[in-house]
Amino acid sequence: MTWLNDNVALITGGGSGLGRALVERFINEGAKVGVLERNADSAAALERDFGDAVVTTIGDVGCYADNVSAVERTLARFGRLDTFIANAAVFDFFQPLVQYEGDTLDRAFDELFSVNVKGGLLGARAALPALVQSRGSIIFTLSNAAFYPAGGGPLYTSAKHALVGVVKQLAYELAPKVRVNGVAPGGMRTRLGGLASNGTAGMDVSQVEGFEQLVIGVTPLRICPQPADYCGPYVLLASRTNAGTMTGAIINADGGMGVRGLTQINGGEDL
Ligand SMILES: NC(=O)c1ccc[n+]([C@@H]2O[C@H](COP(=O)([O-])OP(=O)(O)OC[C@H]3O[C@@H](n4cnc5c(N)ncnc54)[C@H](O)[C@@H]3O)[C@@H](O)[C@H]2O)c1
Repeated sequence: MTWLNDNVALITGGGSGLGRALVERFINEGAKVGVLERNADSAAALERDFGDAVVTTIGDVGCYADNVSAVERTLARFGRLDTFIANAAVFDFFQPLVQYEGDTLDRAFDELFSVNVKGGLLGARAALPALVQSRGSIIFTLSNAAFYPAGGGPLYTSAKHALVGVVKQLAYELAPKVRVNGVAPGGMRTRLGGLASNGTAGMDVSQVEGFEQLVIGVTPLRICPQPADYCGPYVLLASRTNAGTMTGAIINADGGMGVRGLTQINGGEDL
């Protein structure tokens, strides 16, 4: 049984990590997929690996014209759009406020928010007419950093918190025609990259020393998931049959970071 037959999705940042896992999972669930991706090599790999089931647009989520182009190319290939997934993001590599010079902070804020927050809003706006027509839905990729500190520095954390507001506001504004929800994954080893403005453009989280142990240590379920492990909630939210009553919802899929507690009281490992 597949959950997304006849569904056409547009996924930003579909060339790597969670976005690429979503492309594969949605296709396996019966969907066709458009992708907006700034890395041309990653986009070419998608076309090679998934053939006619995917159409890519090379561009920047922070540019409205690129979002429009991705919607148009998806509609031209597949004839409709049911699900827009705002997923592309960049990271601040945990840089604390005190370590920014003022002008660097100024530029880093604009760079990160342009992708992580503005990109989702521009994409939602570009996709809106097609989603209204299909009575479709929007899904934002959030993070544990949308709810708790220390999943990034102040730029990444505040940007992910901002998306909680975006989900709620758009769910309010776009009902009853378009559902708007979010998924908040926890850590995963991907190529999530940094910022030109603070000198971390060439880095990605897969290079962070001890990343897996860090994730396992702060996750009650004691896991460091793979991107594919986070795809189920997206399939659920995209499915009209299974999530037709859900809007304004955010699924925390972070291995239980919200129930870490203040002390180590459980003996869960001994159960
Ligand atoms: N990796 C983690 O630990 C983690 C944890 C929680 C949430 N997330 C979230 O998961 C989502 C996917 O990140 P990932 O970890 O798979 O990273 P990733 O870098 O592997 O994938 C992100 C993709 O987005 C693309 N991209 C980046 N900026 C873009 C832009 N301006 N325009 C178009 N494409 C752009 C990149 O080229 C890349 O292909 C992000 O929203 C991220 O914040 C990641």
